[in-house]
Amino acid sequence: MSPKKRETELQRINQLEEGAQRAKPILHQHAKEIQPFGKIAKLPIALDETACESSVNNLNQVLADTITLRDMYKKHHWQVAGSTFYQLHLLFDKHHGEQDELVDALAERIQLLGGVSIAMAADVAETTIIPRPPRGREEVPVQISRLLEAHEFVLKEARTMAREASEVGDDGTNDLLISDVIRTNELQVWFLSEHLVAMPLTHPEQAKAASGGN
Ligand SMILES: [Fe+2]
Repeated sequence: MSPKKRETELQRINQLEEGAQRAKPILHQHAKEIQPFGKIAKLPIALDETACESSVNNLNQVLADTITLRDMYKKHHWQVAGSTFYQLHLLFDKHHGEQDELVDALAERIQLLGGVSIAMAADVAETTIIPRPPRGREEVPVQISRLLEAHEFVLKEARTMAREASEVGDDGTNDLLISDVIRTNELQVWFLSEHLVAMPLTHPEQAKAASGGN
């Protein structure tokens, strides 16, 4: 582009933008974070900072593990194979949705306690205690076993943390852990566990024995 043409172009752009500066988005902004992770910005909820800190630390651990469990459900929803594909595809997605609701409730409770909730995948990966599954696909019983182990990690820590929340006077956290986290996880464990019972599909065991195993 010639300098003359360039000059005309710039004038045209200036004319177009004139008077619209205040409506333009200000992009590429950077500043120091307003609250570092691990610090408490106390809200007037009649709980002292140390109680909030204790609950925030515990809830961030359950949050990281719940995000991991939620994502494992989606992995298995996509990667499941075999004759029970359709049923498990739907069940895994249902449980994923329920875990996603827990994720939101946990993260928002951390914020209302004045803390900072863990959020990004890399931070979750550094924090979770649930073993990392392989990237590849696994058989149904292995998928379900992995999910059951993850549920048990969450249930164990949630029970301990519910008691700790009660001890520091944080009844809201105690209630969230018991009424939502523990009850949802227990119910999902039941639905999964029943899939690992060795149950013949076409021939009851008793009838098989009576007919000489044929
Ligand atoms: Fe889907």
